[in-house]
Amino acid sequence: MADQDFEPRIVAFFCNWCTYGAADLAGVSRMRYPANFRAIRLPCTGRMSPKFVLSAFLKGADGVWVSGCHPGDCHYIAGNLYARRRFTMMNRLFEFMGLEAGRLHFSWISSAEAEKFQKTAMGVISAVKDLGPASWLDKQPVWPKVA
Ligand code: FES
Repeated sequence: MADQDFEPRIVAFFCNWCTYGAADLAGVSRMRYPANFRAIRLPCTGRMSPKFVLSAFLKGADGVWVSGCHPGDCHYIAGNLYARRRFTMMNRLFEFMGLEAGRLHFSWISSAEAEKFQKTAMGVISAVKDLGPASWLDKQPVWPKVA
């Protein structure tokens, strides 16, 4: 169980056309949610690279959240479906490397779903908070040192 004072740092990658809009709408609608995440706007979740996620963890993130358009709503036809496949692969890879499953989250939230955005944000923050600070990279180097 994590320290109750611990406030997780979460890097969030949001699609410009949907989840970023939902975050905006939640803000304009004065919906409350903790400010534990930093949102990075992507043109589409299809642009999401495993390198972005790894870089976020290497720079101190305790969790990563990727969110985009619902299936069938992607502005680039299938970017979100590619993102889901990539996400599944990343999840398995990171789990193999020792990262707890609850540190990586994926969701589909349209720009009209401010309430869903708020609930998902609370869920992501709570899941990462329960795990405590991410220290897996200290214990398990991503790649061995070259002599
Ligand atoms: Fe939003 Fe592709 S345009 S996920």
